[in-house]
Amino acid sequence: RLPEPFTAPLPIPDVARPVGPGRYEVTQRVAAAEILPGLRTEVWGYGGTFPGPTFELRRGEPVTVAVRNELPVPTSTHLHGGVTPPGSDGYPTDLVVPAGAPPHPAHPGEVHHPLVKEYRYPVGQRAATLWYHDHRMDFTAPQVWRGLAGMALVRDEEEDALPLPRGERELPLMICDRAFEEDGSFRYPRAHRSGHGEHGGRGRLDGDYMEGVEGDVILVNGAPWPVAEVTATRYRLRLLNASNARRYLLRLAPGGRFTQIGSDSGLLAAPVTHDAIPISPGERYDVVVDFSGYPVGTAVTLVNALADGPAGNVMGFVVTRRAPDDSAVPAVLSRPPGRPRPVATRRFDFRATDGAWTINGHRYRPGVPLARPRVGTAEVWRLTGDFRHPVHVHLAHFQVLARNGRPPAATDAGWKDTVDVGPYEVVDVLARFDGHRGTYMLHCHNLEHEDMAMMADFEVI
Ligand code: C2O
Ligand code: CU
Repeated sequence: RLPEPFTAPLPIPDVARPVGPGRYEVTQRVAAAEILPGLRTEVWGYGGTFPGPTFELRRGEPVTVAVRNELPVPTSTHLHGGVTPPGSDGYPTDLVVPAGAPPHPAHPGEVHHPLVKEYRYPVGQRAATLWYHDHRMDFTAPQVWRGLAGMALVRDEEEDALPLPRGERELPLMICDRAFEEDGSFRYPRAHRSGHGEHGGRGRLDGDYMEGVEGDVILVNGAPWPVAEVTATRYRLRLLNASNARRYLLRLAPGGRFTQIGSDSGLLAAPVTHDAIPISPGERYDVVVDFSGYPVGTAVTLVNALADGPAGNVMGFVVTRRAPDDSAVPAVLSRPPGRPRPVATRRFDFRATDGAWTINGHRYRPGVPLARPRVGTAEVWRLTGDFRHPVHVHLAHFQVLARNGRPPAATDAGWKDTVDVGPYEVVDVLARFDGHRGTYMLHCHNLEHEDMAMMADFEVI
């Protein structure tokens, strides 16, 4: 029995509080949540909540986050979209291991941090909507499904100077689908396990789940099809698709438009208006919706045009009253970095090879880089595949140059870190390798594909 849509109030995750200047401590732990009315769901949460707390970061103010692991499994935390030094980037075998874990590594080169790891984030990047989530080798999908994800907002002076909606009129919206057992627990398919059980070995799914795992309940900030009361004014919605495998085509019913102000990696140069927003796992869209266009009392629905039935709804808004609005979306939003001239072209082909998801024919090989771009340069990366793969590149932000040799879609605008590559599509992106040297990765952000080894290292030299 699924819950009634548009009855749960939209939760807003707490903002993480520093324990000292630039220092945060967050404990990953098992906790109980009431996601479905009257039922108890065990979640694995940063700070014991799902989503985890929202980190409010400022450009130029570095932070250290000590992540303490009190879960029964190892973890690795990745700040998605962060320009982060390699030692803090959440490499899949750089693990925070719980007390009592077997000491032997499950993978060559695996590093174990007992109980706590301090992640250092320089936060030298532009204002943007980032998020963080688990990235443990072979187990990212089930561990994110159980709740290990949250948002991180970087702000800067350029953004502060804009009259965008703020405060209660700025809503982080983490959208993800989940399935539940009768008793309220998360339902995730059991993997074929071998080796060391929860502490190692293989946890990958195959066969029936080659396309990834989807759920029939859509959660926003951890609540099923929630509803938010809004005044008839502009709102800034920070849309994040944190689903394992589900892609959405977001629309407003009964009609309405999204004014996009930012992409994955920060503000656009100028706003772009869309009737519909396709959002694949890992992507973010920073948009403004003007609710003054609806009569007071209107129930506005954020729908997913890619699904029928329950998954066709995402959340509701109810326009409660008129209110003053001094916000605006200026015609010029920011001065993002221009497009540098590329020094190389490389190709990354995402496809099934002999029943496994591969990049350029290889299953993930930790420590074996497929490319060695030079720091401070830019390259064209041609992304191709046989199926739909949302491709994410760590560290390097990119712009979409072309899809199948034609100009990109309006929804491809801006600097990004994740791009949807459709079946047999050829997507050219221009990627900048700035800020740090070392080993990073690119991978499919369909998390089941990621766990099925659709990842590769690259080394910035
Ligand atoms: Cu959001 Cu490497 O992932
Ligand atoms: Cu994929």
